Amino acid sequence: MNHPPLNVNRERLDADIRRLAEFTDPNLPYTRRAFSPEYAAAREWLAERFRDAGLDTRVDAAGNLIGRLGAGGGPVLMLGSHIDTVEAGGRFDGVVGVLGALEIARRLRESGAALARPLEIVDFVCEEPTIVDLSPLGSRVMAGDVTAEMIAAAAVPSGEPLGEAIARLGGDPARLHEARRKPGETLAYLELHIEQGPVLERAGADVGIVTVIAAPCRAVVSLTGVADHAGATSMADRRDALAGAAELILAVERAASAPDLAQESVGTVGFLRVSPNMVNVIPGRVDLTVEARSTQSEALLWAREEIERSLREIAARRGLDATLEWRHLEEPVPIPVEMQDVIAESATDLRIRAMRLPSRASHDAARLAPVAPVGMVFIPCKDGRSHCPEEWAETDDVAAGAEVLARALLELDAQSRAVR
Ligand code: GLV
Ligand code: MN
Ligand code: MN
Repeated sequence: MNHPPLNVNRERLDADIRRLAEFTDPNLPYTRRAFSPEYAAAREWLAERFRDAGLDTRVDAAGNLIGRLGAGGGPVLMLGSHIDTVEAGGRFDGVVGVLGALEIARRLRESGAALARPLEIVDFVCEEPTIVDLSPLGSRVMAGDVTAEMIAAAAVPSGEPLGEAIARLGGDPARLHEARRKPGETLAYLELHIEQGPVLERAGADVGIVTVIAAPCRAVVSLTGVADHAGATSMADRRDALAGAAELILAVERAASAPDLAQESVGTVGFLRVSPNMVNVIPGRVDLTVEARSTQSEALLWAREEIERSLREIAARRGLDATLEWRHLEEPVPIPVEMQDVIAESATDLRIRAMRLPSRASHDAARLAPVAPVGMVFIPCKDGRSHCPEEWAETDDVAAGAEVLARALLELDAQSRAVR
């Protein structure tokens, strides 16, 4: 590959990351849930940065913020990620993908490097599961996987109808089809992201090349027993929903840790609502979420069936009513080898140590895969921690990842020139 390094401006990138982190719920850093006031303000700031960078900036019908560089029609190259966070999350998850892409666009303009294809920088709306069964929203709409009817039936956590929340960001749910991309319209999508695990750090690698993205599957479960007096009800007479939920949590852990699945599967109960949640009342009802993920379809199916079987057994033995509904089912997404190879060559050319690894977290790239060849560059994060305020990535690593991503972008652009 014969491309000059882009020389991303690490101070500028660092300043942007710091500034974006200020858009947070002050009582719960770093919280910028999709559609919240902090998110809307961050979006305005980001749109301004896109415009300052000379990008033709708009919000699509789904609420994705898009900055475009280069005139003309035809297929585009795309970079992006998301700036929404989980509750008390981090400053880098998604953010490095969006701000790294912005920095690449700026450097392309400053250096006068003209791409043959238009470049689009996308901040995908609502990647995190703020709306459990529709997130990641923006990338799913782009891939044609969420319909206007699904949006019309959903609400954001504040109770506001989702359609109104999207419109508040500048989207237009009535024209949702306009946000959709058909296969062939996006030549390639590249995403820079923190690894969110410890593999790169432990291996001493500077960047990771993602080989496959694990599929998250999410279910809502409710267990109903009988609320009763915590002193007067003998142990034999109880139908304690929380005790049943505790057993289910351990069953999820066991299902994901089965010896032949370990390494490839994970399982989590991350949300629990106990009713009535009082010290002297036997819990009558528990609502909870179950999440199972794997990079292997068969393992995922096995884990899901095992969780369902355990729930039936626990409920029958304890005299509880139980329901389980899978609200979000994905399949693992393999990354095309050609995309992996372009990234690997970019790292080699730049003398940056790279290794291939699976992504156990999910990303917008996974949802765009049906409509575009996707590739992902990972950078290390401190102690592998993520989705917590301690999440941290060094600016040098963010800059190195952006440099690799930029070189892969230039190469994909050159390849598209060759086949024109
Ligand atoms: C995205 O944040 C995920 O849950 O993997
Ligand atoms: Mn995340
Ligand atoms: Mn993310």
